Formats: sequence, structure tokens, C-alpha cells
Amino acid sequence: MSIDGTSFRTELRNTKVLEGPFPPLNFDKFPPTPQDAFKNWFHEAVTANVREPHAMTLSTVDEEGCPDARVLILKNVDNRGWHFAVKADSPKGKQLAGNGAAALTFYWPLLARQVRVRGIAIALPDEESALDYQARPVASKVGAVASEQSEVLGDWKDLERKLIATEEALGKNSMTGVEKWRVYAVDASSVEFWQGDASRLHQRLRYVWSKGDCQWVKQLLWP
Ligand SMILES: Cc1cc2nc3c(=O)[nH]c(=O)nc-3n(C[C@H](O)[C@H](O)[C@H](O)COP(=O)(O)O)c2cc1C
Repeated sequence: MSIDGTSFRTELRNTKVLEGPFPPLNFDKFPPTPQDAFKNWFHEAVTANVREPHAMTLSTVDEEGCPDARVLILKNVDNRGWHFAVKADSPKGKQLAGNGAAALTFYWPLLARQVRVRGIAIALPDEESALDYQARPVASKVGAVASEQSEVLGDWKDLERKLIATEEALGKNSMTGVEKWRVYAVDASSVEFWQGDASRLHQRLRYVWSKGDCQWVKQLLWP
């Protein structure tokens, strides 16, 4: 069935979003750091059976100053920030090497929650990237090494040939390709916790890093 512009608009308008009820929050009880607040919300997302709660949108800036964004998997959160891994020669890897400005966005629909992290992505020491690489299942390593990620693929057979060669290389040396593996941490300057509300009175709390005081400052935001 073809859908013209008008009926598609109607279809979109009839598509539900933020259907409550969602339990109200008390931001007064939120911990002093956004890392701890994030971990609490993450555990609640897991408990609520949110699918792939560790999937996040990583936004970066290319060399022309244009934004780019894609979904990645969160690897860890600690006092250095929110961690993820990339291949250094992928578009996102090159963009981050040229400009570390980055944002992460999580959306957990079952809970009507969004988390926005803004900051600078800093490459972690090579040893940490190597440990992360070492821990990857072989199949994930094969995929990562074989892929000329985001380059134009002229023929699927090229990929198949590369997979076979990569399997052989990894069979001889399980760390083949490690030199291109980078783990980054987004060192956050602000982190916002957004709780959606069916009547659109969304609750928002932003943590802002105060350089002068070396501590997080909490701000409520208008919906
Ligand atoms: C749920 C989900 C998880 C993903 N996880 C990763 C990942 O961990 N690493 C990765 O390189 N790409 C991952 N991707 C694919 C990326 O979104 C993207 O297509 C790819 O990394 C190429 O991005 P780039 O051209 O900006 O470098 C994932 C996509 C989805 C939808």
C-alpha cells in the first residue's frame, strides 16, 4: 500500500509516545555524581526489561564541523567517564582523533527516560584498549578486523575473502588488529537525566561539572 504525505503525517500523529503512567521521581534523592545516578537508572532499566539498555547514540563532529551520529554499545562507566570502543580508521575513529567533542544519548522507552552526556572523548591508555580487545570473542575480532568499516563495498565476495584471511591471521596471533582498537571515555562536562511524563510535564535534572569547585552542581531544568 502506498502512503502519501498526508496519510503518513496522520500515521505519525497516531503513533503513541510517552504513554504513562510513569512513577514520579524525587531528584532530591539523586547521588552527588552523575556516574552513580546513571548506574542506578541503568539497573532500573535492566530490572524493567528495557532491551539493549547499553545501546547509546554517539554524536561526533567531522572535519568540516558537521555532526555525525550512530549507535554504539557502552563498555563501562567510571570517574573518567562513559567508555566505548572504536576502530581508529572508521569514520567515528577519525572524527574523534581530530575533534574529541562528543555526546552520548540513551533512551529507555519502557521507562520514558533519556540520559544525555556531553563532553570530550579521551582515548584511554593503549594497555586498556588492548585488554578490551583481548576480551572480545574471536568472532567479534574477526568482524572488527576484516571490516573496512563504512567504506564502499563493491562486492560481497571481497568481504568473504577478507574474513577468511582475517580468521587465518587471528588464528596465528589472537591480537592481530589490536593497534587499531581504541577505547575512549567521554569526560563529561554535563549529564542530564530526563524523566518523561504523559502530560508532558517532564522532570529534568542536569549535573554540570564546576571546574572552579571541582565538583558536580545539580540543576533542575524546565520541561
Ligand atoms: C544496537 C547497535 C549496536 C552497535 N554497536 C556497535 C559497536 O559496538 N561498534 C561499532 O563499531 N558499531 C556498532 N554499531 C554500528 C554503528 O552504529 C555504525 O553503523 C558503525 O560503527 C559505523 O559508524 P561510522 O561510519 O560512524 O564509523 C551498532 C549499531 C547498533 C544499531
